[in-house]
Amino acid sequence: MMINLRKSFLDSLEFVNNKTAILRIDLNLPIVDGKVSDFTRMDKILPTIKGILDRNGKIIIISHLGRPKGINNKELSLKPLIPFLEEKIGSNITFCNEDIFGKKIERLIKKMIPKDILLLENIRFYHQEEENDLSFSKRLASFGDIFINESFSTSHRNHSSISGIGTFLPSFPGSLFEFEIKNLSKIFRDSNRKTIAVLGGAKVSTKLNLINNLAKKFDKILIGGAMANTFLASLGIDVGNSMKESKLEQDAKQLLNDFKGKIIIPDDVIVVNSEKPDSNLTINVDSLSGPENVIMDIGPKTRKNFYNIISKSEILLWNGPLGFFEKIPFDNGSNYVASIVKVMHSKKFFSVAGGGDTISCIKNSGFYEFFSFISTGGGAFLELIEGKNLPGIEILNK
Ligand code: 3PG
Repeated sequence: MMINLRKSFLDSLEFVNNKTAILRIDLNLPIVDGKVSDFTRMDKILPTIKGILDRNGKIIIISHLGRPKGINNKELSLKPLIPFLEEKIGSNITFCNEDIFGKKIERLIKKMIPKDILLLENIRFYHQEEENDLSFSKRLASFGDIFINESFSTSHRNHSSISGIGTFLPSFPGSLFEFEIKNLSKIFRDSNRKTIAVLGGAKVSTKLNLINNLAKKFDKILIGGAMANTFLASLGIDVGNSMKESKLEQDAKQLLNDFKGKIIIPDDVIVVNSEKPDSNLTINVDSLSGPENVIMDIGPKTRKNFYNIISKSEILLWNGPLGFFEKIPFDNGSNYVASIVKVMHSKKFFSVAGGGDTISCIKNSGFYEFFSFISTGGGAFLELIEGKNLPGIEILNK
């Protein structure tokens, strides 16, 4: 599998002087109780913005937030994010919620001078965005001279502001986009190195193809999280009231058969009795019985086993939590296994994490800084490692 970019961010900088760059970023930040809980995605795009400003470019920023499905939903406005972005960049930003097809927006853009930044309102307020509507893409493209995609995390979406614009303008990756591809391609580059994937999270249904693809390429796949319950149940183990996907038990069993010895599932688990919520028992999976059991985490034997397997590897790919990490002490399994990256923090060991809940789980473990690379991608990360072609990457390579 080759993941490659033919152009670089530096190439784009030759063109930006006095020109208008349309910059797609991902301001789809996690929001908890009305507040942004993590600014990683915003922080990581700052070098690209500064790079364009240093070369006297004008920037029109496009982003989405949430899934408004073509409806102007004030709760998903990008406006509240402006003060944070202004502070981080150290420049003023003009907010623009004018109609994309109107004359006012044209006048606003015409008035821009070098180093000006204009932020367009949530692009998903237009249904044309997700439809990758040709005239919408053309209209957006008419606002600028070049297109820079600094949103790796949306590159799996075939939308106007990701792939459509690129058909009308010279297009380049931003520096973070480039860095993502550089690091993610390393995972698959060297087939002689010992590779381990740790996969957790709730649903097998979203990860069937991923497991299939990785099992063909990786030496071992270590499975935890609620996803593991479906695998355990497929072997006839009584997982009680634990979260599982019954419809997928057959697929899970098939995977275990197809990749015998490669896919490793938990030997023991931490269980809570649904009638006694404060209970917390370690049980071997063979001894599980009774509807009252709810599996919350991988057990100590499994943690040690996963840890030891990773300690003999050279490349680690991690996606998803191994237990219900949001609730102490059910983060212990993920934390213990993640601690291996600190021990292995050497040049020969390359560790990558990404996708969905992974960043918060790894941050919670305290070992975030010891990973070689943490992707800003959720779905995009998963689709890339699943072996899919991403429209946002394809258009940059055209
Ligand atoms: C993400 O958060 O993974 C990206 O912003 C993509 O969002 P989407 O799944 O709503 O397209």
